Amino acid sequence: MADQQEFFDHINEGYATKGEAITLGAAMLDGQTVRNALVKIPLKTMNRHGLIAGATGTGKTKTLQILAENLSDKGIPVLLMDMKGDLSGIAKPSPGHPKIDERHEAIGIPFDAKKFPVEIFTLSKQDGVRLRATVSEFGPVLISRILGVSETQSGIISVLFKYCDDNQLPLLDLKDFKKIIQYATEEGKTEIAREYGRISPASAGSILRKIVQLEQQGGDLFFGEKSFDTDDLLRVDQNGNGYINIVRLTDIQDRPKLFSTFMLCLLAEIYSTFPEQGDTGRPELVIFIDEAHLIFKEASDALLDQIESIVKLIRSKGVGLYFVTQNATDIPDAVLSQLGLKIQHALRAFTAKDRKAIKLTAENYPLSDYYQTDQLLTSLGTGEALVSVLNEKGIPTPLAATMLRAPMSRMDILNDSELKSLIENSKLAKEYNEEIDRESAYELLNKKIEIANQEEAKEKAEKERAAVRTGSYRRSSSRRRRSSKSSLEKVLTSPTVIRSVLGILTKMLR
Ligand SMILES: Nc1ncnc2c1ncn2[C@@H]1O[C@H](COP(=O)(O)OP(=O)(O)OP(=O)(O)O)[C@@H](O)[C@H]1O
Ligand SMILES: [Mg+2]
Repeated sequence: MADQQEFFDHINEGYATKGEAITLGAAMLDGQTVRNALVKIPLKTMNRHGLIAGATGTGKTKTLQILAENLSDKGIPVLLMDMKGDLSGIAKPSPGHPKIDERHEAIGIPFDAKKFPVEIFTLSKQDGVRLRATVSEFGPVLISRILGVSETQSGIISVLFKYCDDNQLPLLDLKDFKKIIQYATEEGKTEIAREYGRISPASAGSILRKIVQLEQQGGDLFFGEKSFDTDDLLRVDQNGNGYINIVRLTDIQDRPKLFSTFMLCLLAEIYSTFPEQGDTGRPELVIFIDEAHLIFKEASDALLDQIESIVKLIRSKGVGLYFVTQNATDIPDAVLSQLGLKIQHALRAFTAKDRKAIKLTAENYPLSDYYQTDQLLTSLGTGEALVSVLNEKGIPTPLAATMLRAPMSRMDILNDSELKSLIENSKLAKEYNEEIDRESAYELLNKKIEIANQEEAKEKAEKERAAVRTGSYRRSSSRRRRSSKSSLEKVLTSPTVIRSVLGILTKMLR
């Protein structure tokens, strides 16, 4: 019993906070929940990022839900990447359950059922607020990366962006982008070659094929207007609760490349638009990425490097990033080493490889006099986890096996009609879902081609009349000039070319 009192004091001292904090649950000793030995996360260190890991069905997504709703409760907006579509229930209060009451009785905190303000977003044609960005906003560097083109092709893309910039041709969607590539090798080839260097039709052809591939992946839905303003992620409702913004990604699961690109673009955009935060004692926005292994699965080394640096940098903007995945090893070491909060649910020891992973995971946690960490990892129940957070001084708190509180909102998803009415009542959906196709590169180039054709026809008719008069036909000499500079050289010397969000990043990293 003395042991228990000592443990109680150990936890209470270790998790004491001066500022605001989120209560996760109560610490457990020898499999028993120690009432009121509360495990808390200080809001002050929530921008220090985190990891929620554990075998399937152990409670990771519910832990994410608990964190999200408690942040919202404190007026902090949240962004959730919902891969499996299992988080919409946050918009409705929990119906309650005797098991939940039991859980909260053991922890020592009251259970209140509560709903939270939710906004549903989509990257595709699913119901929800459309998240879109224009091709111009992506910029040549990121577009090249998404398409996976070669160095030379990427040079051509940069040239064409520059051409469109110089000639006020907005690149909004993929239709515009395809049009300019065609134009550069057909009607516009002489004009473009004169100023920017010759564009090889073979390279242009392979860029076009890559764009068609992207369209087939559904990528075209993501490009266009109206482009999303990241400030809309920071809304707080009339009761002072932060909005929980849920991006439904159920239809993007099998396209990890598109997803990692989208994530990087979003993070870069947030980084470049959010102001630098001093020590405000609370985060501005917290982002959770469920099934986070998908971001890293097919990402190229270049993309990974960029993700790593943005994870490092975005902290100063008051943004916390939380990765949810089965195994900590799903996350690259460089990212893992930057995560301050760790919530480890149970692991299963089926194979030798599993046992090795468990040993490794255990070694990554602070030593504890109270636990045999590797054994504990396999014996945790559902909705229980090993927790270690950063205290307000930035030092890891004592390791605590924790009986987690239950979500205040519904653990089950919204039914179709609930979801529909949520979206129908959304102000943002009205604002962003209107289809706009304003005059852009596609229309402007078509006009230009038409005018050129008319002039050519006029010129030809005049020449024919003149030829009839003089009785002679002369072939017009080819006036094609060769540009002295190669396309790539021109681009590299152009100051306007690095303007994409990634361009900003590259500059910062220098
Ligand atoms: N904190 C909790 N309070 C009450 N019940 C919980 C809690 N956490 C988990 N559960 C129960 O465990 C079930 C599984 O949890 P959850 O869906 O979060 O698991 P998961 O680790 O995300 O699984 P998967 O890997 O399949 O996505 C929940 O449906 C719920 O019944
Ligand atoms: Mg889950």
